[in-house]
Amino acid sequence: MRITAILLAAGQGTRMKSILPKVLHPVVGQPMVFYALQAVADATTEKPVLVVGHGAESVKRMVGEAAHFVLQEQQLGTGHAVIQAGPMLKDKTDLVVVTYADMPLLQGSTLSRLVDAQHANPGPLTLLTVMADDPRGFGRVIRKTDGTVQAVVEEAQATPEQLTVRELNVGAYCFSSEWLWDALSRLQVSPKGEYYLTDTVGLAVRAGLPVQAIVLEDPLEAIGINTRIHLAEADLAMRTRINREHMLSGVTLIDPVSTYIEAGVTIGRDTVIWPNTYLHGKTEIGENCLIGPDTVIRDSKIENHCRVLKSVLEGAWLEDGVDIGPFARLRKGAHLCRGVHMGNFGEVKDSTLGPGVKMGHFSYIGNATIGAGTNIGAGTITCNYDGEKKYPTEIGEQAFIGSDTMLVAPVKVGDRSRTGAGAVVTKDIPEDTLAVGVPARAIRKLEPKKTAANES
Ligand code: UD1
Ligand code: CA
Repeated sequence: MRITAILLAAGQGTRMKSILPKVLHPVVGQPMVFYALQAVADATTEKPVLVVGHGAESVKRMVGEAAHFVLQEQQLGTGHAVIQAGPMLKDKTDLVVVTYADMPLLQGSTLSRLVDAQHANPGPLTLLTVMADDPRGFGRVIRKTDGTVQAVVEEAQATPEQLTVRELNVGAYCFSSEWLWDALSRLQVSPKGEYYLTDTVGLAVRAGLPVQAIVLEDPLEAIGINTRIHLAEADLAMRTRINREHMLSGVTLIDPVSTYIEAGVTIGRDTVIWPNTYLHGKTEIGENCLIGPDTVIRDSKIENHCRVLKSVLEGAWLEDGVDIGPFARLRKGAHLCRGVHMGNFGEVKDSTLGPGVKMGHFSYIGNATIGAGTNIGAGTITCNYDGEKKYPTEIGEQAFIGSDTMLVAPVKVGDRSRTGAGAVVTKDIPEDTLAVGVPARAIRKLEPKKTAANES
């Protein structure tokens, strides 16, 4: 069976008071339309159709290949919006799911229940309802004594008695395609000058066809966004949902309320997230890590048994057992191999710190590769930029860079070499050499250090 979704996203969203089209406003870091696209992907078999109007170009650019688009040039109502998808979908689908792109909390599993209910319905449509004390301006759902739906009455047209009804129309429907397109062509314009999708209910009922309704189990799924107050409510509800899922799968959140985790983030078991931590984008965190407090991580990969304290990471990769912070800053392309220790006030960009490198205090490392076991003294700087171009620095294994060394790139320091405090290194230093001064010069060859490896 072919099941296709139509998502309505043509409205202006006037009450958002924004230049940005409403459906592009982010909820927990992701434009809200993407949640709707994910939910319909879970419940349908075909690529969805997005009805765009206000801000059509920016919506299309953002959504890209994830949907087909049809333009609704004038916003003449939800029924009129669905009509626009007719030429694309007529005869090409069996069921049509219609929902609004501004309901990010609506779940795929709920839409699947809606589809199943319509599949079992001899009538042409099933709709989703919610029981709520605050009507929020939603349409009221009037049931017949046999439990099928009699009508959906918009607030503006409702009688005082109808206004007291607590069952509300959420704005998600499943139609038989065979019936839908003809019914839409028979819609009458409302007193407000719009063609209401909800008037299809009356058309079915008058033809003696049963309209079914299923009730939402979790009323939070019905949060639709019209104002920035609703946006904040939806954000909180989504964060709460995401956080609960992590806790249920074995992650400790010391204070879920102050922990912000976006939908694309993965976290391994027994990792503990301390308060005031923000995990953004495509971040992956392994098992048994301690993250935070006061930490911001974006698009980074952190393997197992890592410790990240009060630090900011973007586009970084930490292998097992890395320990950083407080106040470490890792920028794009920072790769810290197994067991690296990086203490306070360090910055690393586009560089690899080999296994076991120690960089305790106040350093900037950019465009560099540093070999295993090397110690970077306090205040070491790679001078990688001459105002026009960036240049590389290479430091070998088991080297010891003295405090306040300036490495003027391009430059290389050989394995096991050392620099004196305050050295300004402008020329390559060979292996096993001590270099000191400004500019640094080699003063002597170093005796090989006794290590477990060369002793035997
Ligand atoms: C609609 C329902 C109402 C329901 C409520 C739930 C109708 C007539 N009423 O009312 O029963 O309780 O949603 O939120 O459907 N849109 C277009 N083109 C248009 C008009 C609207 O694409 O011409 C889109 C909007 O961008 C929005 C959605 O459809 O995402 C809903 O439109 P809106 O005007 O907000 O409908 P409501 O008055 O809220
Ligand atoms: Ca609305």
